[in-house]
Amino acid sequence: MTDADLDQVVAMEEHSFPHPWTAQHFLDELRSPHGFPLVAVTDGGALAGYLCPSLLLDAGEILDVAVGREFRGAGIGRLLVESSLRLFREQGANRVYLEVRASNEAAISLYRALGFGESGRRKRYYENGEDALLMDINLPSEVQHAV
Ligand SMILES: CC(C)(COP(=O)(O)OP(=O)(O)OC[C@H]1O[C@@H](n2cnc3c(N)ncnc32)[C@H](O)[C@@H]1OP(=O)(O)O)[C@@H](O)C(=O)NCCC(=O)NCCS
Repeated sequence: MTDADLDQVVAMEEHSFPHPWTAQHFLDELRSPHGFPLVAVTDGGALAGYLCPSLLLDAGEILDVAVGREFRGAGIGRLLVESSLRLFREQGANRVYLEVRASNEAAISLYRALGFGESGRRKRYYENGEDALLMDINLPSEVQHAV
């Protein structure tokens, strides 16, 4: 991801989440020494999705990931998460974690398919009273099977 992607990324974010990140959130990640935001782009150059990872010492976190509605179900989410796991591993992460809405079946299935397990739950974490599911994966042993 670069600054030039921001308008499209923010538009996709607004179509994907009830409480979307602003352009400033993405700018902060682009400037952060811990972040390395990724985009997935079609052969024709269209933005298909993005993922914001963050690495602190040996712990990686997936902060945000979305695929454009018209591109979903084609393996792009899987590609983005797999790519982030490979990059986390190359940069020395031993573990990657994330939070996901307990009702987000598509995302939970994706993370499970890549080897993430449920590590906890934050009760009524979201503004609508919904729980957050905490999921994590140990690297590199588990990811070697998935990637
Ligand atoms: C979650 C999201 C990123 C998945 O992206 P995607 O490109 O559609 O996912 P993929 O095509 O790579 O699917 C990979 C796996 O995820 C799971 N999956 C994806 N969409 C699913 C759905 N609608 N229902 C159930 N499982 C689903 C499946 O296990 C799938 O594997 P399969 O194709 O072998 O069955 C996408 O739905 C999205 O952007 N959602 C809105 C934003 C969001 O919720 N982000 C996650 C926040 S934690």
